[in-house]
Amino acid sequence: MRWILFFVTLIGSSICGREKFFGDQVFRINVRNGDEVSKLTRLVNSDNFKLNFWSSPSALGRPVDVLVPSISLQPVKSFLKSQGLEYSVTIDDLQALLDNEDEEMQYNEGQERSNNTFNYGAYHTLEAIYQEMDNIATDFPDLASRVKIGQSFENRPMYVLKFSTGGEQRPAIWLNAGIHSREWISQATAIWTARKIVSDYGEDPAVTSILEKVDIFLLPVANPDGYVYTHTRNRLWRKTRSLNPGSRCVGTDPNRNWNASFAGEGSSDNPCSEVYHGPHANSEVEVKSVVDFIQKHGNFKCFIDLHSYSQLLMYPYGYTVKKAPDAEELDDVARHAAAALASLWGTKFQVGPTCTTVYPASGSSIDWAYNNGIKYAFTFELRDTGHYGFLLPANQIIPTAEETWLGLKTIMEHVRDNLY
Ligand SMILES: *[C@@H]1O[C@H](CO)[C@@H](O)[C@H](O)[C@H]1NC(C)=O
Ligand SMILES: *[C@@H]1O[C@H](CO)[C@@H](O)[C@H](O)[C@H]1NC(C)=O
Ligand SMILES: [Zn+2]
Repeated sequence: MRWILFFVTLIGSSICGREKFFGDQVFRINVRNGDEVSKLTRLVNSDNFKLNFWSSPSALGRPVDVLVPSISLQPVKSFLKSQGLEYSVTIDDLQALLDNEDEEMQYNEGQERSNNTFNYGAYHTLEAIYQEMDNIATDFPDLASRVKIGQSFENRPMYVLKFSTGGEQRPAIWLNAGIHSREWISQATAIWTARKIVSDYGEDPAVTSILEKVDIFLLPVANPDGYVYTHTRNRLWRKTRSLNPGSRCVGTDPNRNWNASFAGEGSSDNPCSEVYHGPHANSEVEVKSVVDFIQKHGNFKCFIDLHSYSQLLMYPYGYTVKKAPDAEELDDVARHAAAALASLWGTKFQVGPTCTTVYPASGSSIDWAYNNGIKYAFTFELRDTGHYGFLLPANQIIPTAEETWLGLKTIMEHVRDNLY
């Protein structure tokens, strides 16, 4: 009987548990020229090694981080050596980081249950984030409300927090986070930011004056299905969870799915790719829900998308090297924001247009926003620069949120003073 129970538990945990990454490592590969980019691109497109790229190769000389499964360690090392590509190991025990994160979360959940608090210095499930959004709206009924803007592919509600001090349709700012589900620091920073806005209103003159002129809409989990999947099945899931007819691969990259040079450079038509753009623009209901909401509202002036990692602050365009008509102003605002951000803990952000700062990316949220009259369009890539990558330890949540807030506030003050 005991043995039967033991096996049932074993099978149960392997069916229902999260994917394990025993012995897997993350490599950082240096890319110095176009020749090395094409060698790496061959690696990206080869299915043999079961690699998971954490960043895309580009000719701009940024190193590329890639998750190498334990069975591929030797073959990949040989391949890199034979091609003369330099690399280092940035994470030598991926599973240890995951176990650590998991233990911390579970410990924290116990603490939160026993004293009925929300610990902003911890990572949370979708349910806990939604509950905390509700709490914020309940605590500050004159300032905040939770609004449902749609439903995900798997029928989860999509909630935004609306911060407003006035009844009429004011100009508005859109804050987006978690469109890529594994970028956990973005959802955590977003919910911290929500609490910060309500606490600082009436205390911090900058926040007070921003909210006298504009409304803020904050979507902390733009990809709810993907986020739940990162908790239950695979911590490193990036895309949506929509099905792709005719393919065994699931999901679309929701940040290649917007109607801005859709299916262009820096996206893929292969459903198995991490940057699969989907069958058509707005095919992902999570993207379509935001697009519909923003278009119906009609008065958004700013769109900020929070991602991780790399410590970058970028503005349009991602799909072309051409300069955006407002590039000079956007660059100026971004530089001030990055300086404000760095003033707290010294965290350095690189600033520039997406396409020439990281890599070409078509169908992205901020390009769509910009092309649809929302001038102040920015993407943050939060901490870190690759030491932990997507697995940023929870003890960095509050410092990250605090510094990001200074950057966000700088942008929002500029919007307040430059409404058009
Ligand atoms: C209450 O929860 C917080 C985390 O939110 C924790 O730091 C603290 O120790 C807990 N206090 C008690 C008495 O359990
Ligand atoms: C995308 O935008 C173009 C105009 O730039 C429009 O003609 C087209 O209908 C849009 N597609 C979708 C799916 O919204
Ligand atoms: Zn991202």
